[in-house]
Amino acid sequence: ARGMIRCEASLASDYTKPSEVADLDWENLGFGIVQTDSMYIAKCGHDGNFSEGEMVPFGPIALNPSSGVLNYGQGLFEGLKAYRTTDDSILLFRPEENALRMRTGAERMCMPAPSVEHFMDAVKQTVLANKRWVPPTGKGSLYIRPLLMGSGAVLGLAPAPEYTFIIFVSPVGNYFKEGLAPINLIVEDKFHRATPGGTGNVKTIGNYASVLMAQKIAKEKGYSDVLYLDAVHKKYLEEVSSCNIFIVKGDVISTPAVKGTILPGITRKSIIDVALSKGFKVEERLVSVDELLEADEVFCTGTAVVVSPVGSITYQGKRVEYAGNKGVGVVSQQLYTSLTSLQMGQAEDWLGWTVQL
Ligand code: COI
Repeated sequence: ARGMIRCEASLASDYTKPSEVADLDWENLGFGIVQTDSMYIAKCGHDGNFSEGEMVPFGPIALNPSSGVLNYGQGLFEGLKAYRTTDDSILLFRPEENALRMRTGAERMCMPAPSVEHFMDAVKQTVLANKRWVPPTGKGSLYIRPLLMGSGAVLGLAPAPEYTFIIFVSPVGNYFKEGLAPINLIVEDKFHRATPGGTGNVKTIGNYASVLMAQKIAKEKGYSDVLYLDAVHKKYLEEVSSCNIFIVKGDVISTPAVKGTILPGITRKSIIDVALSKGFKVEERLVSVDELLEADEVFCTGTAVVVSPVGSITYQGKRVEYAGNKGVGVVSQQLYTSLTSLQMGQAEDWLGWTVQL
């Protein structure tokens, strides 16, 4: 069961056009930055209209030391992936959802945002310009990282007078060092990721800086990552540092409802629809830590982590193991396979989720 990736591995031998991919050790891709060929950049001034944008060589950008993003964290990011299919086309997974989420986040952060069409066009341009970095089928994906930031200079606290929209890409494999083996999470009861009325529901850069300390402590203790609880009752599940959380009990799959403090993950939303289509009951609601400890299976979802099975949870010194911590739960496995088959163009795209380049 550790072989959630088996279906991908068996595809690798079908891939016959290695000359069209960059020279990289595709067998050992983790989730790190690889320098690719080019990145997209567009700017927007006071009028709120973005320039058409252009592809430039991948590399450092000049930023005013007084920019809004550097001083006051006025920034957002997105994450999506491109997969290479066995017939050598490239598939994007639900890119409009990222465009829409960036627009929602931009509103919260008082920033102008690119239109959905602009976002889509920029993503396509960036992926096509870096096509040789899309891993061979079965070896991983091209992670696409759009950024929107207040690049104009401010000193007093205020929205920046100029914004920059950038997209860069990097080929990636598995997010966690465990690969596809189940991860071990610790439930955090001191630090919180988000608070009601805050920015937990948008993909602003500060949400990720604020979890680094809890994540660092957890990793030092040997855990893969941290699962946060709500800041008010310290009882209900929120999310993991970089992904959403699901629990399975019988044929019911539950996940915290996205009400303000939780990032509305696109993989989260897709897994809910896939699970419903497979006949599972799905509940979006408050999920307590007690239910987590009693669950049959637990898994995380995210663009970067895809579907990651959880092998153990530690809460207040008590460790609970799922499926003996050796295997992947059957539901997690089924959902992983269904989702990745869609993403890699191996299953009929009956929901129209992929965009072919
Ligand atoms: C993603 O899953 O794409 C994210 O944005 C999470 C990030 C921390 C890697």
